[in-house]
Amino acid sequence: MSDKTFRIYATCHIGDAAENKLREKGHELEIYPGPEAPPKSLIVEKVRSGVDGLITTLRDPIDEEVFAAGKGTLKVVSQIAVGFDNINRADANRYKVPFTNTPEVLNDATAEFTFLMMGTLSRRMWDSEKLVRAQKWGAWHPFLPFLGDEITGKTIAIIGTGRIGLALIKKCLGFDMNVLCYDPVFQNHRFAADVQQLMDLRYKLGMVKENNWIKYVSLDEALSQSDYVSLHVPLVRTGKSPTHHLMNERTLRLMRKDAYLINAARGPVVDEAALAKALKERWIAGAALDVFEQEPLAGDSPLLDPELEDRCRLFHHFASAGRITRLSLDPEKGMAGRCIQGLLDVLEGNYGGDKTRMPYVVNKEAWTGSGADGEGI
Ligand code: GLV
Repeated sequence: MSDKTFRIYATCHIGDAAENKLREKGHELEIYPGPEAPPKSLIVEKVRSGVDGLITTLRDPIDEEVFAAGKGTLKVVSQIAVGFDNINRADANRYKVPFTNTPEVLNDATAEFTFLMMGTLSRRMWDSEKLVRAQKWGAWHPFLPFLGDEITGKTIAIIGTGRIGLALIKKCLGFDMNVLCYDPVFQNHRFAADVQQLMDLRYKLGMVKENNWIKYVSLDEALSQSDYVSLHVPLVRTGKSPTHHLMNERTLRLMRKDAYLINAARGPVVDEAALAKALKERWIAGAALDVFEQEPLAGDSPLLDPELEDRCRLFHHFASAGRITRLSLDPEKGMAGRCIQGLLDVLEGNYGGDKTRMPYVVNKEAWTGSGADGEGI
């Protein structure tokens, strides 16, 4: 612990509780009023002025220019998000600036939202509500004007079995789903074996009619054999396992015509032009997207084509946006709490000042010389 005070610049508000905590500790906190992102030049200017800590979001490009501006003064970048593809890890390492993120606390909120998007899409809830609101609900009928697809008992492909992918698998278990797993970097066979045991037990107890199953397969198998494909990989543009445009013309064509694609990971994991074509030409049944190649979604995006409205659900990067998940000061519950804890660990020199022991520091390899990249989020 240290009683030194520091200068902190935040590129957005992170909630009263977390902001007050920093101020109560005597730190000088300046916040870009937003809600839009500050221009990069302003971030560079603030860092050059000597701030010790920088609080960022996934909208802020943090790279060589920023780290160079903070040379000798910038001690930590604390990102309020689990994904950190906006932060250039190699540049952070070169300048030996630790950056932190907010994993775990958003697993359930994100997985839950992913599941609900899947339900909204598959059971056509949007079309149903529109019908009622537009006073176009003529009569109850066994199958007119449309039907949806049940989720219970179906097969889901979880692409990326990091924390959020695993949290989604737990939710799918309650819907008697079979699970195909794919992860380019790390296969959690132990988790899969535990889930299989639960599935077997539910069957043995007579709670389900069929014994569900979970297994790791290749990407092509996962895509071609599932009713739902849900993406949970981080955005990785280079290296051995890039995920940029993982879903492209080839991989979308592998999916079944009656299958749905769900993306609550990162927009550029999906080639949107290819997806719009797949939806239009009905290579797949539908898609629900919480993230986009460009955010906010541009007005001329082919995904906004009214012709696709019945099979394409669109959300505003909202999956982790539950009140507790976003704002709780408790670092075990909230992104705001975890964000400032990561920042304070570095500034206050917690863990004896050893960055490799600080739980929310991502780029530990800058001090250990080794590190994993690209694992599911
Ligand atoms: C949200 O997308 C996050 O990375 O936390």
